[in-house]
Amino acid sequence: MKVTVVGAGAVGASCAEYIAIKDFASEVVLLDIKEGYAEGKAMDLMQCASLNGFDTKITGTTGDYSKTAKSDICVITSGIPRKPGMTREELIGINAGIVKDVSENLIKHSPDTILIVVSNPMDTMTYLAHKSTGLPKNKIIGMGGALDSARFKYRLAEALDAPISDVDGMVLGMHSDTGMIPLTSHATRNSIKVSEFLSDDRLVQVAEDTKVGGATLTKLLGTSAWYAPGAAVSAMVQAIACDLKKIFPCSTLLDGEYGLNDLCIGVPVIIGRNGIEEIVKLDLSDSEKAHMAKSAEAVKVVNGLL
Ligand code: LAC
Repeated sequence: MKVTVVGAGAVGASCAEYIAIKDFASEVVLLDIKEGYAEGKAMDLMQCASLNGFDTKITGTTGDYSKTAKSDICVITSGIPRKPGMTREELIGINAGIVKDVSENLIKHSPDTILIVVSNPMDTMTYLAHKSTGLPKNKIIGMGGALDSARFKYRLAEALDAPISDVDGMVLGMHSDTGMIPLTSHATRNSIKVSEFLSDDRLVQVAEDTKVGGATLTKLLGTSAWYAPGAAVSAMVQAIACDLKKIFPCSTLLDGEYGLNDLCIGVPVIIGRNGIEEIVKLDLSDSEKAHMAKSAEAVKVVNGLL
């Protein structure tokens, strides 16, 4: 199993590190445009191998896409991250050109690959990857919901004063501060609805804290977060590589599902060796449906800037 990660910045490098630590891939190629940077990150990570006990071979390249040839999975993290006070949508001007160029180059060398798009504004970049590569829709997956759901579970566990492993929950919709839809009505604590433990007001607070999860970290760190984004991507890569058939909310091209067409937005999907193996249809309440429609409108506005 060969995995390419484009962008050896903080998110790309953490993603490579988590993939290596889980030791399910034979090879990870890091590619960056900054001279020597990916090579340096790869060497540093490889010097963890004997300490952390993995055999995954990590190599780096400065912009040589031939080194990525025949990758089973390619992850695009390239582009600029947001700075405090910026929305993800504001990055479109710079990141669209980069994501188009990167996805076209990747497909030239790995025409059968599965693409995971992380660059922001992620839903629109996932849509752009479709337009640029023409890959079948099961093979392009946007990473947002897996991360947002992990942040949701963190906030739920905090409010419940419960271990995170007892908490389950999902975030659908656009990967943006206002477009995310934390499904509080579906969230559970060891199969009991969280509304049995938390007041409506507390649940609203959990949802609001989840939606600004990325912005909160950007303010604290001075740049966008990397550990949880890297972990979320690596979990999706593992689900594909090991054919786990795991459910994650991911940005996927919709063709009538959830009453939406011709856009990529976060919905629950089953991920396995073929990428998106199925879009899972959830029964949403009227208010959740209205949120989804509003979130989709917001995605279409950003898509219109392409
Ligand atoms: C975040 C970026 C990856 O939410 O969008 O941290």
